[in-house]
Formats: sequence, structure tokens, C-alpha cells
Amino acid sequence: MQSYEDFISTVSHELRTPLTSIRGFAQTMLQSYDKLDDENKKKFLKIIEEQSNRLIHLIENMLKVQNEDNLIFKSVKAKPLLEDVLQIVKQQYKEHKFELKYNEKLPKIFVDTDKFQQVMTNLTENAAKYSEKGTTVTLTADFGAKEDYISIKVTDEGVGIDEKNIEKIFEKFSRIDNPLTRKVQGSGLGLYITKMLVTKMNGKINVKSSEKGTTFEVEIPSENIEKQAREKCSQTH
Ligand SMILES: Nc1ncnc2c1ncn2[C@@H]1O[C@H](COP(=O)(O)OP(=O)(O)OP(=O)(O)O)[C@@H](O)[C@H]1O
Ligand SMILES: [Mg+2]
Repeated sequence: MQSYEDFISTVSHELRTPLTSIRGFAQTMLQSYDKLDDENKKKFLKIIEEQSNRLIHLIENMLKVQNEDNLIFKSVKAKPLLEDVLQIVKQQYKEHKFELKYNEKLPKIFVDTDKFQQVMTNLTENAAKYSEKGTTVTLTADFGAKEDYISIKVTDEGVGIDEKNIEKIFEKFSRIDNPLTRKVQGSGLGLYITKMLVTKMNGKINVKSSEKGTTFEVEIPSENIEKQAREKCSQTH
């Protein structure tokens, strides 16, 4: 666990980098406005816009880390929630293909629906973000013999994650250097938040990766678990 001081110093550093760049490019624009051609002005404004977006994204994610406590659990069907997630991510990654493989016999899941969707969105976004255009991202929802947990896998055909980095990806602000992470922006908080939410929903998350692609698997309690817990409770009281 990180100490509060460590957290603050990491956050300050993460905020300072985009701010310094915004200030630098704004200053250059102001000081050399007449000397710069339109193309360069546009380039600088583009960087200012990108860095502002990065700050907003970072702050939104930091607020999520803070604001994690009030979960509202319900028994719900996973299918429409997953379909929603795919629709949202598709808008952002129009040149990827997305597939949902859903076992129609899947029992209901027992989750906070917003948080569940946030988890699935983070994983599906990562899958698209760290794989090339034209490749496929597949969501597979199934359950085991006992029907007390369901499994949702998010599989991509992307760059993969090196064995030595697998544990790091769930830490705060951790981004792994590879050609695609260099190209795309991120705060490195997505998987930290994802793991935290899965754990709060009494689930588990694991990851398998090779150079052919990555699969994140989330195991989430089905409503059967909740029913069993309730029965046990009523027997003992
Ligand atoms: N599906 C994936 N394939 C390859 N690498 C991945 C995948 N998902 C995550 N990673 C690696 O793990 C790192 C951490 O992921 P995480 O979602 O926490 O942060 P991010 O995507 O960089 O930023 P954010 O989600 O906060 O915008 C990423 O920077 C990337 O290097
Ligand atoms: Mg991410």
C-alpha cells in the first residue's frame, strides 16, 4: 500500500507534466505569434488540447479512486449491460471489430450495475487501445458447473504484456512502455480502479498474455451466491 505522502507526490508529478507542457506551448505561441506559420500554430494548439484532455481524464480517474465506497448491489442480467458497454466503446474505436459471445443460460449476476459497467468499459477500452485497428476484441460470458460465479473474458489481438510487467499493471499510475502506449494517452489508473471495483464486488480478476494478445478474466458472483448467503443467514437466525 502506498503512503499518503507517496500518493500526493505521484499525483503532483502526474499533474505537473501536462500543465508544464500547456504553459510552455501557450508561452511560445504568445511570444512568437507573428513568426509562427499557421501549420505550427495549429500543431501547438493541438498539443494544448491533447494535454488538457489528459488532465481532465486524470482528474476524473482520481475522483473515482476517492469515490469508491457506496456500492448498490442488485441481481441483474449481464447481457444488456455488456451490450451497452460494447456500443459505447465501438463509438470510440470505430475501426476495431467487437464480438459478444454470451451463454444464454447465464445466471443473473449480483453487482453494482454502474461499477460493473465501469469495469467492463475499462477492460474493453484497453483491449482496443492496445491493439491495432482492424483486429477483434471479444467479450465471452460463461459460467462454471457450480453456477455461483460467472466469468467474463475480454480478449484482444494486441501487443500483449510482458510476463515481468503483469503484476505492475494493476498498480496506481503504472503504464508499460511499448510502441502503442507511447502513441496513446492514459493515466495508468484504469486497471487500478478496475481491480479495486472487482474486489469490492467480491469478484476476482486475472490476466493471461502472449505476443498474440491478452485476455483479462473477471469472475463475478452470480445471484445464486447471494441467495445461498441469505438462506444461511435465515437458518442461523
Ligand atoms: N489489453 C492490453 N494489452 C496490452 N497492454 C495493456 C492492456 N491493458 C493494459 N495494458 C498495459 O497496462 C497499463 C496500465 O493500464 P491502465 O488501464 O491501468 O492504464 P492506461 O490505459 O495507461 O490509462 P487509463 O486507463 O487510466 O486511461 C497500460 O498503460 C498498458 O501498458
Ligand atoms: Mg486503461
